[in-house]
Amino acid sequence: MKKLRNINKLPARLDFIQSVTGVVLALFISGHILFESSILISHDAMYAMTQFFEGYYFLGETHPEIISVLALTVLAIIVVHAIVALRKFPSNYKQYKVMKEHMVRMNHHDTSLWAIQVITGFAMFFLASIHLYTMISQPEMIGPYASSERMVTEMMWPLYLLLLFAVVIHAGIGVYRLILKWGLFEADQQKFMKQRRALLRTIMYFVVTLYLTVGVFSLMRYMSIGYEHDFANGERYHPQGVTK
Ligand code: HEM
Repeated sequence: MKKLRNINKLPARLDFIQSVTGVVLALFISGHILFESSILISHDAMYAMTQFFEGYYFLGETHPEIISVLALTVLAIIVVHAIVALRKFPSNYKQYKVMKEHMVRMNHHDTSLWAIQVITGFAMFFLASIHLYTMISQPEMIGPYASSERMVTEMMWPLYLLLLFAVVIHAGIGVYRLILKWGLFEADQQKFMKQRRALLRTIMYFVVTLYLTVGVFSLMRYMSIGYEHDFANGERYHPQGVTK
């Protein structure tokens, strides 16, 4: 009994925090990519989405500060998620070599997926920080024209493209690994486990491809608006008949 009480619960707690923050971030990014693909419907749809997040439909006027608060909250969750995840990164060259040899020898899908998750997670920490800083500091500069201008005249599209691939792949693999970890997709019999895993992987690849396709098309739409529109007079987009 005494021995049980001495068990270190910290790793389990950290694991739990990593899972919960991971699920919250995965839900956030799946919503984000869809909301922001409203540009594929029309300028007005993206404008309405922006008004919604600025609180217009609840408060009767726009409050871009809401976007800043939301972005700060997301940044805080990312920081917690990253700090907790850091303990699982190979921390020196020796560990890295062992991991690489293991991957080559085993040719194991799940080990390779884990390595991809480490690389995309590392890249994302820098890429997402730049994007979030913009959202925190210029929350009023979001909309069909303002976002498109940022993509083109501020040359943000390469960063968005890299971030899109990093975040969608990272989230896809993360959710796949969580489902396995919490035993949510297990077969009754051991002999079916391999097939189950393969099926889950196929679903994950499908969802990742779907999100990447939507994301790339949205990015292309913002860029085409950015190249077509003349931003010289700093005009903001307003639907017909709306002046503010
Ligand atoms: C509350 C926080 C966030 C807000 C308000 C926000 C808002 C936006 C907006 C308005 C765009 C369109 C381009 C622009 O205006 O610059 C965009 C694009 C993008 N954001 Fe965010 N974002 C947030 C957090 C994040 C996070 C945490 C990630 C990833 C870790 C992310 C990944 C992306 C990607 C990949 C694109 C390009 C999407 C595409 O190609 O379809 N965003 N974001």
